[in-house]
Amino acid sequence: MLEHMKGAIFDLDGVIVDTAKYHYLAWRSLAGGLGFQFTEEHNERLKGVSRMRSLDILLAIGGREFNEAEKLAMADKKNRLYVEYISSLDESELLPGVRAYLSGLRARGVAIALGSASKNAGFILDKLNIAGLFDAVVDGNKVARAKPDPEVFQTACRELGLQPEDCVVFEDAEAGVAAGKAAGMQVVGIGKPEVLKDADLVISGLHEL
Ligand code: BG6
Ligand code: MG
Repeated sequence: MLEHMKGAIFDLDGVIVDTAKYHYLAWRSLAGGLGFQFTEEHNERLKGVSRMRSLDILLAIGGREFNEAEKLAMADKKNRLYVEYISSLDESELLPGVRAYLSGLRARGVAIALGSASKNAGFILDKLNIAGLFDAVVDGNKVARAKPDPEVFQTACRELGLQPEDCVVFEDAEAGVAAGKAAGMQVVGIGKPEVLKDADLVISGLHEL
């Protein structure tokens, strides 16, 4: 499947860079301000999940309820803190093998897209100095429906001018694997086979390829 692909669509958080730790610090601080604990185990539930849905999960963990306006303000506060943490990101935080694998794909003529839920994706790609490796960038600002809905990968595929069967998705989250399969694409899971059961192949990182 990897030999024949014409397009490769990468998730960002957990595939290209480990931003989960910064999301965690920001969410933990928000929870702390509301008077409850938010653990790393809780944070696992937010992987691949959109910002507002993540907030809903966090508030359910704390047993707290707020109206829409209050929730928007909280999500904004969390994001300002998160952006502060990631503003010092640089190339050294690229996950192992990322630059080599993407450069190799380009050399082979494979088109490359980003398919991420994050609204900070453009900023992060710039910080990591890899924006130039992507032919298309589809992020949380461009799509209405979050993974496991296939919209983000369908849009990326369309922007590359390809068909779903020509594309392979690289994903670390269960919801992302489901989104890739729902889009009719082959999916390489990055993580543990027992978690990413629906992926066509599971590896521990791009350095393996
Ligand atoms: C996903 C992350 O890539 O993006 C989630 O895995 C995050 O943890 C989501 O909540 C949205 O990110 P952002 O940067 O728009 O808050
Ligand atoms: Mg991810």
